[in-house]
Amino acid sequence: MASFAKAAFTLATVLAVGWALSAHAQEYNEYDPSAVTPGSIPNFPFRDCNTTNGAYRLAPVWRPSGSNTYCFKIQVSQDALSCTGACCSADLHKIEFNVSSSCLVAGASVVATVNGVRTRVGATLDKAPAGPVGSAVLRLTQLGLDTTTAQDAEVCLTLKTNRGGQGCTTLEQLCSSPGFPAGTCTAAMFDVACDCCPVSQAGQALPPPPPVIPPVLRPCDVCIAATIVPPANDVRPYRYDSATCAAI
Ligand SMILES: *[C@@H]1O[C@H](CO)[C@@H](O)[C@H](O)[C@H]1NC(C)=O
Ligand SMILES: *[C@@H]1O[C@H](CO)[C@@H](O)[C@H](O)[C@H]1NC(C)=O
Repeated sequence: MASFAKAAFTLATVLAVGWALSAHAQEYNEYDPSAVTPGSIPNFPFRDCNTTNGAYRLAPVWRPSGSNTYCFKIQVSQDALSCTGACCSADLHKIEFNVSSSCLVAGASVVATVNGVRTRVGATLDKAPAGPVGSAVLRLTQLGLDTTTAQDAEVCLTLKTNRGGQGCTTLEQLCSSPGFPAGTCTAAMFDVACDCCPVSQAGQALPPPPPVIPPVLRPCDVCIAATIVPPANDVRPYRYDSATCAAI
């Protein structure tokens, strides 16, 4: 009896611990490096998902917004070129940017806002577990945007160094997009299930074209000054007086 009770207790303990472990693994699956094979997915977003299918993309140009802050606009398109099936109507759960691992500095951080409101969960700079050595992402998760609320939503990132002043402060430093001009950021937009992850880019606005100085058109004070002088050989002299002249 005593040994039966002990065995039952042991079994219950094993079950409880096993359950707790699996619940833990489930909850943190996304971030658990042991759940994926390192280096198994060579390309951003370093996940097994469809990078061309989805309603959400970055508008092509980001804007600087002062003090190491940069803002991106989200565009929603549900046309046949952008998405098919469930990816067209799925909510926008998470955005990941392809970033330079040199920005992963202890104490350095990124504050993210959506339409001026801080994201529920802080933005995280992280290694990409399934990506090649040196790959890293900036993750903004639990966004809770849908195809209506995401349209034109503005996502701003404030890049903060650590106390020692180390860390990235510009998108030229943060964003890794080989083949694109410096400061171009590549992002993937995920649904909750992470099946759809359309990848898009946003770059720096081109410098404004040199200003075209319009010719100054102002009324002239004197345009032509003329004096009428009788010719030397005055064949048929005729003289106008002012009144006749004005009447012609
Ligand atoms: C991704 O989705 C597109 C439809 O938008 C489809 O044509 C393509 O086959 C999908 N790719 C994969 C790898 O599932
Ligand atoms: C993502 O960044 C890595 C460097 O970490 C780079 O090799 C890769 O080409 C980038 N991918 C995209 C799609 O920009």
